[in-house]
This record gives sequence, structure tokens and C-alpha cells, in this order.
Amino acid sequence: MLQSGDGRSDWWRSAAIYQVYIRSFADGNGDGVGDLAGIRARLPYLRDLGVDAIWINPWYRSPMADAGYDVADYFDIDPLFGTLTEADELIAEAHAMGLRVIADVVPNHCSDQHEWFQAALRAGAGSIERDRFWFRPGKGQDGDSPPNDWPSSFGGSAWTRVDDGEWYLHSFAAEQPDFNWANAEVRAEFRRILRFWLDRGLDGFRIDVAHGLVKQDDLPDIGSDPDPLDLPNSDRPEVHDVWREWRKVVDDYPAGRVLIGEVWVASADALARYLRPDELHSAFNFDFLRCSWDARQFRQVIDDTLAAHAPVGAPASWVLSNHDVTRHVSRYGRADTSFDSATSQFSTPTDLQLGIRRARAAALLTMALPGCVYIYQGDELGLWEVEDIPDELRQDPVWRRSGFTDRGRDGCRVPLPWGGEEPPFGFSPDTVEPWLPQPSEWRDRTVATQNGDPGSMLELYRMALRIRRAEPALGDDTMTWLPAPQNVLAFSRGDRFSCLVNLSETTVELPERTVVLLASALSEDGGIPPDAAVWLRTA
Ligand code: GLC
Repeated sequence: MLQSGDGRSDWWRSAAIYQVYIRSFADGNGDGVGDLAGIRARLPYLRDLGVDAIWINPWYRSPMADAGYDVADYFDIDPLFGTLTEADELIAEAHAMGLRVIADVVPNHCSDQHEWFQAALRAGAGSIERDRFWFRPGKGQDGDSPPNDWPSSFGGSAWTRVDDGEWYLHSFAAEQPDFNWANAEVRAEFRRILRFWLDRGLDGFRIDVAHGLVKQDDLPDIGSDPDPLDLPNSDRPEVHDVWREWRKVVDDYPAGRVLIGEVWVASADALARYLRPDELHSAFNFDFLRCSWDARQFRQVIDDTLAAHAPVGAPASWVLSNHDVTRHVSRYGRADTSFDSATSQFSTPTDLQLGIRRARAAALLTMALPGCVYIYQGDELGLWEVEDIPDELRQDPVWRRSGFTDRGRDGCRVPLPWGGEEPPFGFSPDTVEPWLPQPSEWRDRTVATQNGDPGSMLELYRMALRIRRAEPALGDDTMTWLPAPQNVLAFSRGDRFSCLVNLSETTVELPERTVVLLASALSEDGGIPPDAAVWLRTA
């Protein structure tokens, strides 16, 4: 049972954090969309899986133009997901099971339905209400061209014109106006939002678009060949002031509250600047997520990550998938295993069995590396990207904003299969259709089917998390590379634990004087086959 300030205050340095994509986790009220009631009912599943914390994607009041990343009211739960009281109960129940709860906070932008943006629209040009956002006159004789050339991350221009002729900036969908972080009221409001949720017992926040809040205030064009290390709308040096301010808020609470950044930047060093001792506690390692299934590249990313994190004293993190990227089972089953964009590889031949074998090995790799590990819901079931969602059912705004050329991120957001022989696989009551259709092939990947099957992905995750927790050398500490055949990664943690990942095309023998603690696969003669990983106890 966790209570405020209880437990190890540096738990996050070696935690396993499970991402709950709320609308696709479990549907508790039978409307086809996941919700707080669903999460509460499945908390024992998460406890038994062996994770330390859950991060829940945005649950705030929202018109859902971007699945909740368009927040209309930061102080309330959207009725689609439940109520504030249910959130309180969820936090208390999770704590009683030893699970910490991290919420998503979205500070770069709000919903166009947020009362501040509505007030800005009414107040007109030059008003203090408009100064909370980025309103500018357009270019050209009639001001009918956008103020600059910035693209929206979801396609098209980052500017939309309002009735009185001014334009406003939105780095994502038009329904997501960017806040102006040079504005003192914006800063104060977010401190209030953080306190509101910390007071309710939350253990921390995952911060959306943490690299993007501050814009160069003269809003210059980006041009056709920008320097990725000097962009006017990303990774501005002043953004670090915001994180120092937030860190002070969090540090007012009992130790153990964390800030975790979604930081997309050009290098491991740039990422580490967000993790200085007075800024964020942790950030997702997207270089690792983007890495190809290749021993040399993995080793390089691991070395670069550890080298960049050490000087700031922050633990590394290891991420394979999330709600924005193609699931790694699919990525690893393709000829090109790197991550580019969610859809550039749609309709590429994918060997799912190969992808699953590699995903099993990748699970053991990530959980053996120093630092914390993030698990995206469904990783533990070996789910793959769903590529055949009918176009008319697609919900991601990327699909529309790209002029129906980019199919977006719905394929990694399909509701979880819990049990049963056909959709909705226990996600919703039997007669209800989930908000996105599930593939019938998932009948073999449900929690119920995998439960108790020693060869399943689910049992591999459970075993790995159990060993990881019990093994003093795992979690946050140092690692040492060991000599290994070509295209094999081998490293030790402490004196008696080692991990081997075979990315070569031939079976590798177990090193002498070792005993297998856990294997993603073993050959008949006890060797490590291609695309497999083992955890070893050194005698
Ligand atoms: C982040 C979220 C993504 C969202 C975007 C805009 O990248 O992870 O899902 O669409 O920010 O808020």
C-alpha cells in the first residue's frame, strides 16, 4: 500500500511504467470506449503483471478532436471516461495495490473549445485574451497568407484564420491552438493545474510535447532546409525555464512525484538537457524506439544514451512503442525495421511471426538495460499494428489533415483483447462494437489465451518483470559490454547477471558456466537461436 511520500522516493529511476491508452484499455460502461471504470476493474491485472506505475493518456474534458490531446477543461474528467470522483477512487485503489499513477498533461496547446480560446476569439486583435495564444495578422495584401511557413505536425499549415482576419498558431490540428508560454497567466495557470492533480494524490505527469512550448517570438520562417538543432518552434533554450518552474512545484510535494517529458529532439545530448537535476526526472528514449533491428545500431544508441544521461545524473529510459508509432511487432517483421512515420510503411510485407520473436527478445533487452522501462499496453500481448481499419472508421486527425494520404495512428490504438473467441474480446460487453474494430486473429492473443501458457508473450513479460524486481543488479546502475560473436549483444549487470541478444543469423552457444534464468527462445540443443535473447546467471 502506497501513501503520500511513502516508498522509495527514487522509484522512477528503475521503474517499469505501463502506458494505459484509456480509450482502448477496457470499457467499463459498455459504450465501446475504454474508461476509468475499465481501468479500475483491471488494476489487479496490472499489479499481477508486475509494473510499478501506470501512465494514463489524457482523461480531461475534451471534444476529442485529437483523442483527448485537445483539452477543454484541465480540472475535470471527460464524461466519456468517467468522473473526478472515479479518478480519485482509481488513484486510491492503485495506491492500495502498490501502483503509482501518472497523468498526461498537455501544456503546448488546448482545445479550441477551452474558455480561454473562446474568450480570445471574442476579444479581438491586440487583447490580453489573445496574448495567451499566438494570434498574428496574415501576410500578403489582404493578409490572406499565413504569418509564416510553419507546418502543422498533422499536415497542412500551422495557422488558421479566424473571422476577423487574424490567424492563430496550432502546431497540431486546427482544434488545438498553441499557448503563448511567454505569457505569465499561462504559466500561472499550469502551476495551478499541476497542484490541483498533485493534491488529489497523483504521482506525476507525462508532459506532452515538452520540447515545443516556447517559440522564437519573431516567428521566423523555417525554410526548406532547416538546421534541426536550431528550429524556431522546437527545443528553444527558454523552454528549460518552464521545466525549472514545474520542478519547483513538484518539489513542494513529498518526494517521489515525477515529471516525464515527451521530448522529440535531434540528439541524446539535447534530450539530456531536459533531465538536469532541476528539470524533468525522466524522458522517453525515442532514439531507442527508432532504432533498427541491428546489433551495431542498438549498441550505438545504448552507448550514446548512457553517455548523455550520466553527466546530468538522470536514469536512461527504454521504449519500444507508444500510441503514436507503428507497433514494434510490425516494425520488426519488415525488411526495413527502423521507425519512420506511422504510415509510410503501410502495405509493406510484414512477417508477424518474425516480429513477435524479435519483440520477445527486445522485451528482455529493454528490461535488462540500466534505468526505467516503458511498456505500451498490448506490448505484453504481442499485438501488432492493425493496418486494415476501414478508412471511414479512422479517427486520427492526421488522416484528414494529410488530405487522406497518411493513415495516421489508429492502427496502434485498437482496443485490447481480454478474452473470448471473437471481437470485442471482452473489451466491451459482447453486443457492443468497440470504437475501432479488432482483428479476428487476436483470438490467439487475448489475455485469457496467454494466461498460464509458459510460451506466451504475457508470461514472458510477467516472468521478466518479476525477475527484474527481485534482481538487485537490474534497474538503475551500470552495465558492462561483454565479448560476443558478431551481431550479438552481450552485457553484464553486476557480477552474476548477464543478457545476450542474438541479432545474427546463426544460433549461438550459451557461454560457459552460465545458467538460463529466462529465455525468449532456445534452440533444441539449448543454444540461442537468431532473434532471441536470454538472461543468464553466471556461476
Ligand atoms: C503528442 C501525443 C500525440 C498528440 C500530440 C498533440 O505527440 O503523444 O498523441 O497527438 O502530442 O498533442
